[in-house]
Amino acid sequence: MSPTYPQTVFLNGRWIPADQATLSVFDRGFMLGDGIYEVIPFYQGKPFLLQAHLNRLHYSLQEVAIMTKLVSWEDIVTEAIQHAGLSNADGAVYMQVSRGTAPRTHFFPEQTEPTVLCYAYPLQLAGFEHKRAKVLVLEDKRWHRCDIKSTSLMGNVLANNEAHHRGYQEALLYRGDSLTEGTHTSSFFVKQAHVYTHPQGPQILPGITRMEVIAICKELGIEVKEEPVPLDRLPTMDELFLTGTTTQVLAIGQVDKENETLFRREEVGPITRTIQDAFKQRLNNL
Ligand code: PDD
Repeated sequence: MSPTYPQTVFLNGRWIPADQATLSVFDRGFMLGDGIYEVIPFYQGKPFLLQAHLNRLHYSLQEVAIMTKLVSWEDIVTEAIQHAGLSNADGAVYMQVSRGTAPRTHFFPEQTEPTVLCYAYPLQLAGFEHKRAKVLVLEDKRWHRCDIKSTSLMGNVLANNEAHHRGYQEALLYRGDSLTEGTHTSSFFVKQAHVYTHPQGPQILPGITRMEVIAICKELGIEVKEEPVPLDRLPTMDELFLTGTTTQVLAIGQVDKENETLFRREEVGPITRTIQDAFKQRLNNL
């Protein structure tokens, strides 16, 4: 499904046709990337892990000190799905809050009204368990507060574009000696039936799907070690997978670095498959 523009968007309190939604060129989101965002999945019109996404939205807003008026985010998510005519479809809700419009300064302007944008769009979410990703290892050149879901995504965009241009679905990033995450996904590694993932902190986004997968592992009695995996251990791993709102639980079939293949696995591994089955079960119970 190739991306298209949504017809209707929520902008600063009103649902309006997208082609009538206009913003000042002095909006700090546009000028400085001074904003935060969220992406919330829905299945058959029902949001998945909504509260966790809204909690992370509040965390990001708080960390960058953007104060919004009392907004009923739940209602906006529901309305977004309805306005897009996706009440019986799969998709995602995109939400963005910038600090608002003001003459350009690096410090926060006084009394600026944040700009709030929201819309829903359709996504092909069924069938993730049949896919396998080919990923390219690249250096993590992002800032040091990756826990904030900031709209300043240049580091992610450059890495993802390099991977995409070279025929890969995602870039798997490393900082120093350790693998951190993907450009828009969390990363998991399986070794001798233990699951490894980077610990929460400023180096990664606290992925909502990541959190759910950890909960699934705990329920299934699969041991999870939240510790960084060194890049040089990657070839010794049994299974690798990515998680994310738009990626779900995606098995990795091949990892390359420059022109060398570091990992290859033809079929989806047993631990990944078990986690995918449990994840699908949660979607079915929505
Ligand atoms: N990205 N890591 C990064 C850097 C991300 O941007 C994302 C999500 C994830 C996965 O988080 P979650 O499970 O909460 O979606 C991890 C969204 C989907 C995006 O930027 O479009």
